[in-house]
Amino acid sequence: MSGAAVTPIRWLAAPSSEAWLQQAIAHPAELLIDHAHCERKAAGAALQLMFRYPSSEDLAAVLSPLAQEELEHFDRVLALLQRRGIALRPLPAPPYGAGLTKEIRREEPLRQLDSFLVAGLIEARSHERMALLTQHHPDPELRQLYGDLLASEARHFGLYWRLCESRWPRPLLIERLEQLAALEAKLLENLWPEPRFHS
Ligand SMILES: [Fe+2]
Ligand SMILES: [Fe+2]
Repeated sequence: MSGAAVTPIRWLAAPSSEAWLQQAIAHPAELLIDHAHCERKAAGAALQLMFRYPSSEDLAAVLSPLAQEELEHFDRVLALLQRRGIALRPLPAPPYGAGLTKEIRREEPLRQLDSFLVAGLIEARSHERMALLTQHHPDPELRQLYGDLLASEARHFGLYWRLCESRWPRPLLIERLEQLAALEAKLLENLWPEPRFHS
């Protein structure tokens, strides 16, 4: 599936800061560990939606391959960690994920709408940050890794957008996306002291 259809949608309300980029570049091992966790969580988020809406065939057709692809990304990052002798370990989470989840409204169908948009926003931020790292990271192997994953992440927020558009009118989507995107950008305003993909 092509990601071209998503380009008119502006997901992110603000770009990542230079401070984030410098912090990320300065701590490649910790960022890789966090990246592995992010891929695992992205697969989990897709699976969680399949479990919450088990009879939705169009959802399953999109989310099952997505979950599998995120796990492939996880495997790839894990293999790189192992080659570099870096152990996978738990990392304290910045407020980003919980802050976004808190905005998901409880009642359906709004819960589904918000869940898709939040998942798409996280994908969009991953994409933006991988693009920065591909451009600026001094380590060629990491530049290659982020560059290879970049196209997938762009496709992923496109998938969530198409799921939204198959269910709700675009003006309603844009209005809610703008609210959530503003909040997403706000959650990134105070840089977490430890390097994270989303902080
Ligand atoms: Fe991924
Ligand atoms: Fe993704």
